[in-house]
Amino acid sequence: MSSTTPKKEHFTVVVLGASGDLAKKKTFPALFGLYKNKYLDPNTHIIGYARTKMDLHVYHDQVSKYIKIKSDEDKVHLESFLKLCTYQSGQYDKDSDFQELEHHLRDVEKQTRAKARLFYMALPPSVFIPVAKSLKKNNHPEGVTIRLIVEKPFGMDLESSRELGRELGALFTEEEIYRIDHYLGKEMVKNLMILRFANVIFGSVWNRHAIDNIQITFKEKIGTEGRGGYFDEFGIIRDVMQNHLLQILSLVAMEPPVSLSAENVRDEKVKVLRYIPPIQAEDILLGQYVASEDGKVPGYLDDKTVPKGSKTPTYAAATVFINNERWSGVPFVLKCGKALDQQKTEIRIQFKDVAGNLFQSLSRNEIVIRVQPGEAVYVKMMNKEPGLGMKTIISDLDLSYSKRFNDVAIPEAYESLILDALNDDHSNFVRDDELDAAWKIFTPILKKIDEGHHDPIPYAFGSRGPKGVSEFVAKYGYHRG
Ligand code: NDP
Ligand code: BG6
Repeated sequence: MSSTTPKKEHFTVVVLGASGDLAKKKTFPALFGLYKNKYLDPNTHIIGYARTKMDLHVYHDQVSKYIKIKSDEDKVHLESFLKLCTYQSGQYDKDSDFQELEHHLRDVEKQTRAKARLFYMALPPSVFIPVAKSLKKNNHPEGVTIRLIVEKPFGMDLESSRELGRELGALFTEEEIYRIDHYLGKEMVKNLMILRFANVIFGSVWNRHAIDNIQITFKEKIGTEGRGGYFDEFGIIRDVMQNHLLQILSLVAMEPPVSLSAENVRDEKVKVLRYIPPIQAEDILLGQYVASEDGKVPGYLDDKTVPKGSKTPTYAAATVFINNERWSGVPFVLKCGKALDQQKTEIRIQFKDVAGNLFQSLSRNEIVIRVQPGEAVYVKMMNKEPGLGMKTIISDLDLSYSKRFNDVAIPEAYESLILDALNDDHSNFVRDDELDAAWKIFTPILKKIDEGHHDPIPYAFGSRGPKGVSEFVAKYGYHRG
């Protein structure tokens, strides 16, 4: 799974929505990273497309805005990278504009001899389909390989996701579509299969006989500033839990795949999701942030782009159960929130109590996989406290990447995923049936939340989250060490 070799086919990359936040913050820096590290053919041309009118100079400023330049060498690379980047403005539903894009593509391809096109849709979902239709009609000539990267959200619920899938599926094949969930490009998420299936010491205890409960946690310090309008329509469950956290869960819980091929891996991911019944009302806790305790940082409802009195959750904890032989009875607690005390994504696997009464006051073993920041895997284990007595002490077997892999630069998730798409590797992209299975778990409870049946509990900006989270987690067996 996952490609590391530079691509063989020669591509032109088209970034649609090139004036937007995602393109600037993630897509262009990732393309630059690939270019700098020679994963992109040096002739690859990158065309930006959006409605905003910009001259090339302004556009290049936008492309470079979030690219980190750490050395003189980087500066030189950036200069040559920008020479590959051109821009064209146009509407998202106007054939004549996409025909103009086609002329531009053909001019470029005459020089570069590229025979493949990667279309990156860095666009709001409202224009996914009009753009896909325009591309199909005007920019899909025979003999040219097409790959289409689509960003989340993939619908609002099961029905709208299926509708989007049907419309997209009528235009492009499943092989041509790459649905991005950028958490699948993160180093520690990609490490999960290796940790589980390449280590006897982990593999043999990875089940209900040894594990008591699993927590997958996502915390952010930032609120929804500037994205309040988008966020209010979706809420934290659709924004983070239904996709990023559930993808992590499927890799933590799936059975070993037959091989590392994209289809074998995704078959197992879908299978495990199908064992999860829809989330029940008693297994969910919601929160919404209010102003910080000192009153200096405003609350969610103070954002002018958020509708008055909105009940949209900015924090959610939900517990799911996997009704199969491996996991029956083990709670998987998913927690995510904005405007919290720290930024952190981690997986915490807590083992059962040691049987018998040989030692007193033991803490439970835990395997913690820290996805970010500061990638690490550590095992919490009991040890003899050094000295003359026989006292026990909880200690860590610690694989912190900053210490062990000090000089290795960890690639950005988007770099890894764009490279996979160029190399036609679907392993780390979301398949249509995976999406269906994911929405089935969340749609019933989301409907109830949208209808106003679950009031979010207020929590202060910068706090640990709503009151009751510790009790919620304890209800599913978690012991604080
Ligand atoms: P933006 O709101 O910045 O939109 C991207 C571009 O699309 C804009 O520059 C604008 O370009 C055009 N656009 C914006 N609104 C509309 C509209 N109503 N109708 C038509 N065109 C519009 O979005 P982001 O870049 O933040 O996100 C793009 C996609 O990526 C979304 O699907 C988002 O959910 C997803 N995403 C974003 C992340 C982020 O960090 N920003 C993270 C993960 C996913 P112009 O007016 O020039 O045409
Ligand atoms: C995005 C969500 O998918 O992921 C954002 O829409 C969230 O709300 C972001 O902030 C988190 O990504 P990362 O890589 O910064 O953890």
